[in-house]
Amino acid sequence: MDKNPKKIKEMFNQIAQNYDVNNNLISFGLHKIIKKNVINSFKFSGDCLDLCTGTGDIAELLKKQNCNVVGLDFSKNMLEIARKKHSDIKFIEGDCTSLPFDNNTFDNVTISFGLRNIENYDKALDEIYRVLKPDGYFLHLDFCKKNWFANIIYNFVVPKLIKIFYGNNQPYVYLVQSKKDFFDDDKLTEIFYKHSFEVNIQKTFLLGTISCKYCHKSQII
Ligand SMILES: C[S@@+](CC[C@H](N)C(=O)[O-])C[C@H]1O[C@@H](n2cnc3c(N)ncnc32)[C@H](O)[C@@H]1O
Repeated sequence: MDKNPKKIKEMFNQIAQNYDVNNNLISFGLHKIIKKNVINSFKFSGDCLDLCTGTGDIAELLKKQNCNVVGLDFSKNMLEIARKKHSDIKFIEGDCTSLPFDNNTFDNVTISFGLRNIENYDKALDEIYRVLKPDGYFLHLDFCKKNWFANIIYNFVVPKLIKIFYGNNQPYVYLVQSKKDFFDDDKLTEIFYKHSFEVNIQKTFLLGTISCKYCHKSQII
């Protein structure tokens, strides 16, 4: 798949205005419930960085846990909406593959439905490792493809719905394809391990369609 960062940025700038509405539609509102469940399952505290923050859903949930939160995204338009919705949260325009922070800055780094869109995900994971404090945690949330239910939903039902709602609208065609192409759960654990993240807790939702990994920064690199 073409995940050229310039194109991905343009695409999110293009869909930003309707991102929240469409997310609610496509997920039947479930994404909000899942995000809330994930963030409330873990006790977050201290300095938190939410990468690929989009319109700031995860940043808001972290803020509710009294964390000191920074949201980062490279889409101006997504950030504009995030800032309007959450005026009490600091949002920064930046790229996950080159984070504008010193080493060992954050207690937690989160990324929700983001890594799938990053061409150089190895670089992004290296950056996450670098900015995390030695005892820090990394939380990853996204679709995972190794599941018959997910395959039926995302290979047949969602594409049909998307075609009905949006015709051949490119961003939504991309969305379905990127879900199909993303790593399965075991491969993702392997990749995280390669980047010195140990998966401590793993949770799945919707019969394994969505997976969350709570990882500890390991000192072996
Ligand atoms: C599908 S949205 C997810 C938004 C939010 N985290 C959520 O769960 O609703 C993906 C976001 O990642 C951002 N993004 C993609 N690649 C990025 C990169 N290399 N650096 C920073 N942001 C990136 C996009 O601009 C977009 O806002």
